[in-house]
Amino acid sequence: MYSLKDKVVVITGASSGIGEALAKEALKRGSRVAVCARNMDKLQAVFETGNESILLYAADVSKEVDCKTFIDAVSAKWGGVDVLINNAGVSMRALFEDADINVIKELMDINFWGTAYCSKYALPSILRNKGNITGVSSIAGYRGLPARTGYSASKFAMQGFLEALRTELLNTGVNVMWVCPGFTASNIRNTARNASGKVQGETPLDEGKLMSAETCAKIILDAIEKKKRSIVMTGQGKLTVWMNKLLPGLADKLVHKHFLAEPGSPLQKYER
Ligand SMILES: NC(=O)c1ccc[n+]([C@@H]2O[C@H](COP(=O)([O-])OP(=O)(O)OC[C@H]3O[C@@H](n4cnc5c(N)ncnc54)[C@H](OP(=O)(O)O)[C@@H]3O)[C@@H](O)[C@H]2O)c1
Repeated sequence: MYSLKDKVVVITGASSGIGEALAKEALKRGSRVAVCARNMDKLQAVFETGNESILLYAADVSKEVDCKTFIDAVSAKWGGVDVLINNAGVSMRALFEDADINVIKELMDINFWGTAYCSKYALPSILRNKGNITGVSSIAGYRGLPARTGYSASKFAMQGFLEALRTELLNTGVNVMWVCPGFTASNIRNTARNASGKVQGETPLDEGKLMSAETCAKIILDAIEKKKRSIVMTGQGKLTVWMNKLLPGLADKLVHKHFLAEPGSPLQKYER
């Protein structure tokens, strides 16, 4: 068991959704918490300023220099990092045929490179502290999802990176883990990029019926404390991962059917 009490926990992308919930739950568990997002106003709106246990920092994780200065600021305040949760992420909803290639690059820059940069700069102190590196991945990191080519590529890249890093660090006392939430209520679908790279500004799902970000955050922090290897959170997710391994052709058909049925699905273009 690895207690989060008094640990320095760094969370990227914490101004909404799962990251915000992770930060608030880590504070409840007695951690000192450093959070970043691009928009400082949003961070200040969701976290109490003046709380000595939280550090708010404006950083764009797709920029290496921002990741370095963020981790440096955490080290200057608290002497180093125990736990890094690479959570910042954006999604997309557009066919590859229609999407500007820069959409794929932006998703790789944020979801994959953000993870690599923050992990690189936090690793020396995490090694010293025998801490944890976590990636908030997705089922899209196990199974490619249509109209989300860039998102799937970035999450596969994240998981491959973390699995390799986990194996490198196997005998160091550092635990590397990735977690795959199912559909969770958050802002991720509103900010998903459309074909031209603009935010789509709507969600095709009924967000009220999804897992709450708070429940998702508790599962992730419990998994860090139990030093898990990886977590697939929902039954639907577990079934998808399992079926993709054993019956990949059937998985193609079922995943296609699921995403074709979404309101306004880009896949309808190929059905005419
Ligand atoms: N919600 C789901 O259904 C679901 C399912 C599976 C996996 N996930 C994963 O969960 C993670 C969190 O997503 P969420 O659902 O909580 O979405 P969200 O509510 O949209 O939160 C995303 C957070 O990331 C920040 N962010 C985005 N780009 C950033 C950048 N370049 N640098 C720094 N911060 C950045 C956003 O703040 P700013 O815009 O102010 O920077 C925001 O705080 C993502 O990695 C996502 O892929 C979500």
